[in-house]
Order: sequence, then structure tokens, then C-alpha cells
Amino acid sequence: MRAGIIGTGSAVPKRVLTNADFEKMVDTSDEWIVTRTGIRERRIAEAGEATSDYATIACQRAIEAAGIGAEDIDQVICATVTPDMMFPSTASIIQDRLGAAHAGAFDLSAACSGFLYAVSVASALVEVGRAKYVVVVAADLLSRITDYTDRSTCVLFGDGAGAVVVGAVPEGRGFLAFDLGSDGSGGKFLYQPAGGSRIPASHESVEAKQHFLKMEGQETFKFAVRAMGASTEKVLEKSGLTRDDIDLLVPHQANIRIIDAAAKRFGVPSEKVAVTIHKYGNTSASSIPIALDEAVREGRVKAGDALIMVGFGGGLTWGAAAVRL
Ligand code: ACO
Repeated sequence: MRAGIIGTGSAVPKRVLTNADFEKMVDTSDEWIVTRTGIRERRIAEAGEATSDYATIACQRAIEAAGIGAEDIDQVICATVTPDMMFPSTASIIQDRLGAAHAGAFDLSAACSGFLYAVSVASALVEVGRAKYVVVVAADLLSRITDYTDRSTCVLFGDGAGAVVVGAVPEGRGFLAFDLGSDGSGGKFLYQPAGGSRIPASHESVEAKQHFLKMEGQETFKFAVRAMGASTEKVLEKSGLTRDDIDLLVPHQANIRIIDAAAKRFGVPSEKVAVTIHKYGNTSASSIPIALDEAVREGRVKAGDALIMVGFGGGLTWGAAAVRL
């Protein structure tokens, strides 16, 4: 039996932060941000809101699209690096709010690659018969760990959540191949230093701004282009698909130049690439399922279409999945 995606959903905050807003906050310009990243605006959660608020809505939409009930769900997996709190898990909070009374729940940490890791686990649970329906939600409020005085990072990120329901699908459809990888030696290029067991929260850690995301942009960029290319090659080979079979490439939305480089390398025309970065920025793990959900709801993809989803992120990690909807 094969597992596949049987419903999608997403949710983003209403509040918009434009490049013009950043021109008033830091030494930057709309022109710099657009040409270097492709970002025009991003969505930012209100004070007092948390990751689970958006994740729960995304899950509800995915569950509705799948045509099942919350009580049918066996597992909730939440991929996030900005949980509501260290524990309980954000997945447990979501499970309760969904009313998924028969579901287990856990968080998974693989930064921007988290969605791909989580759907890989979910599909395995379904295919070995350990679960009938698994809800995978990737959700991050990166605004909570962004230093809005650091122009080299603050313009890049936005908040959001995307979800899918993974369940059994008819023969010939579903997940065809996965590729997941990690190079922990690159952890220093993208990380949040404090708040864990190495540097617990203290007055000093707050003053030293160690609770904010730190990034070496150029190192991350080089890694991203390399990893996205290699990972896509691998899932293509494993799945038996050819480039011409791809109906939609759904890449992690970190920088339009990274997306364009990946699409060019594979000879995939721009009309077959899902792009949301101009309106949402980099929403971390949620960027792939948000782009997927929008493509589904806009009718850009339909049952039977072949998709490649590919991403990279902190860890450093990367991942790709080939799926026939
Ligand atoms: N506005 C104006 N100037 C800026 C800004 C800004 N917002 N940010 C940086 N600059 C300046 C720099 O200070 C530098 O000035 P200098 O030459 O005087 O030193 C100049 O612009 C060029 O900076 P670079 O870092 O070389 O610019 P680059 O073209 O590499 O673009 C960027 C930077 C957009 C960050 C790019 O490197 C990138 O996208 N990297 C990948 C980021 C990424 O994918 N992150 C993934 C995160 S995934 C996750 O897990 C959250």
C-alpha cells in the first residue's frame, strides 16, 4: 500500500510588513531586497499569538480537504523551530485544539527541511500500517527569533503554517521517493545560540542577542544551491520520473535566486515552479506546504500530477520528495 497526500491546508497572519516598512526600520531599500531576494512583503503574527494558532487552522483546512474527521487521526507531527514553548510539544497543543482524541503527537526539528522530514515519517507510518491518517504540519513564527535591527536577516523572514493529511492512496499515486540529508558541520552557518541546554536563558544571553537567529548568508546560499540540486537529482533517479514528467516543482522559498538556479539546473520552466516568496518571504518549514496548498487551491495541480518538493535549512539539513498527487 502506498501513502500519499489526501488534503492540504495553510494559514498566514493578516498583518503585512512591506519592504517600505523596512526602509523605516533599518538601512535598506526596496530595490536591494527585491533584486537580492525576490521578497516584496511578508506576514507577521500579532503579539501574543503563537505557532500553534496558525498551525491549528492549517490542520483544520487540510483535514476538511481530506474529508475526514479529527477523531480519525492517528498521529500529529509538527515540524517547527519556533514551538509555542520548549514543552509540551506544539503538536500536543494542536492535537488538543483539533479534538484529535485518538492521536499521538510530537514535534520534529529539522529547521526549513522539517516538512520533508515529517512527511517522510508520516508516509512510513501509513505504509507499515501503524497509522491510517497522519496530519503533518510545518509551522514557524520566525519573527519571534528575528533581530529587527540586523538588516542582513530581518528582511528575509515571515510567519506561517502549512499542513497535509497523509493517508493511503490508490495504486500509481502517492510518495514515490524521498531523499533526506544532514551535514552537522555546517550548523554554525544558521542557528539560534541560546535557549537550549548549552546556553540557557539568562540576562547575559538576552543582552548578547543570543536568542536571535544567526546566519552566514553567503555560506547558506552556496550550500542551498548545491543541496537542492543534488537532492532533486536523487529523488528523480529513485522515483523513476524524468524531468519532463514534473508537473510542478515546489522548492523551499528562501531566495528567488536560489529557486531560479534550481529550476534552471533542471530545465523546469518557470510556469512549473511554485513561487510565493514575493508575498510571504521565507516562512521556514512552512514554505513548501503553503506553496503546495496554494497550488492545489488555485487548480495549478490536480490528482495524478507529479511533484518534486525540495528544501534545505538549519542543521544543515536538506530533503526532497517525489509525489504523485
Ligand atoms: N539592505 C541593504 N544592504 C544589505 C542588506 C539589506 N537588507 N543586507 C545586507 N546588505 C549588504 C551587506 O552588508 C553587504 O554590504 P558590503 O558589501 O558593504 O559588506 C552587501 O549588502 C552584500 O551582502 P551579501 O551578504 O554579499 O549579499 P548577498 O547577495 O549574498 O545576499 C542574502 C544576502 C540575501 C542573505 C543571501 O546571501 C541569501 O539569500 N542567503 C541564503 C539565505 C537562506 O537561504 N537562508 C535560509 C534560511 S533557512 C532556515 O532554516 C531559516
